[in-house]
Amino acid sequence: MEFAETLTLSKPDKMQFQNAVIADQFNRSHDYLRISLTDKCNLRCAYCMPPGGISLQPHSQYMTAEEILRIAKIFVSLGVKKIRLTGGEPLLRKDVNEIIASLSKLPVELAITTNGILVNEHIDTFRACGLKSVNISLDTLKKEKFKAITGKDYFDKVISNIGLLLKKNFHVKVNVVLTKGVNDDEICDFVSWACDKNVHVRFIEFMPFDGNNWNFEKNVSYNDIMHAVEEKFGPAIVKLTDGKNDTAKNYCIADYPGTFAIISSITNPFCDTCNRMRLTADGKMKNCLFSGDETDLLSAFRNGEDIVPLIRGNIMRKKALRSGIDNIDDFGKQKNRSMIAIGG
Ligand code: 5AD
Ligand code: SF4
Repeated sequence: MEFAETLTLSKPDKMQFQNAVIADQFNRSHDYLRISLTDKCNLRCAYCMPPGGISLQPHSQYMTAEEILRIAKIFVSLGVKKIRLTGGEPLLRKDVNEIIASLSKLPVELAITTNGILVNEHIDTFRACGLKSVNISLDTLKKEKFKAITGKDYFDKVISNIGLLLKKNFHVKVNVVLTKGVNDDEICDFVSWACDKNVHVRFIEFMPFDGNNWNFEKNVSYNDIMHAVEEKFGPAIVKLTDGKNDTAKNYCIADYPGTFAIISSITNPFCDTCNRMRLTADGKMKNCLFSGDETDLLSAFRNGEDIVPLIRGNIMRKKALRSGIDNIDDFGKQKNRSMIAIGG
């Protein structure tokens, strides 16, 4: 991990941070970078991983730990204040602890989204590196259904790791991708569970990506979710104030600490306050989850080019709404990757 030491931020960089902004044509400033560490996963959720899997590239095409740090540092010099590590499953990467440790030295809030299976092996690193909040993907509270959705039998492991995180005082957010006929019958169970366990459950609308057989019939909308919760909890539902760049509409049930939220990029997009940029594990920058427009930062970086104009150019091309998809019929028509190769 020597490189981490040699890249500690110098004073001029710190000055630069205060003025720098990555702005787009619509005056949105981008200070949140999501970095995918790998395209691999130990689960097989159909909404994310195409049925035959995806073909992985040669190892050399993926960013090394050192490249991740150096590229992240350039983003930070342009005003990035938050970095989230995603995948595939980020904890599958052998050098993930090293990556977390090096990024945690940058002046950013560092976060991670994981399927939870390997959390117990890394929780000490999370702690030591100052991670406060961990997002876990979990689509059902039923063991058998977990196996049907993910193809694997890791339900008990994930639940026990959520318990471990809570015991160690991490703020735990649980991402639930809702699909009609699969887990929409569990909306109220998840809300009750959130109340009981003091976790923050976020219902996410199923989104179309390459190879995931999306169609609008499977969508569980914001209204469907609220309707289900209202039937059970009625006037006890309390609307919370949403954060400035929040993708979620946040709620709680009166007198309970846990909360729930709805992320509805299909029926209620939140693009007008989007501050997110993405870097795929093979070093391509994306300005939107739905965008096929990728900028190869890694090749340019390896050639010794200045990647700042590439970053700014990519963001300048960002569309106002969902990469230009402004009607339901147009979903799935643009060329894009599978979710597993984008990184949530
Ligand atoms: N639609 C919505 N959310 C998805 N995720 C993965 N694929 C999809 C999809 N097709 C979610 C995962 C994870 C987050 C990073 O993205 O559940 O929590
Ligand atoms: Fe793996 Fe997450 Fe994709 Fe499921 S959604 S296959 S857990 S990366």
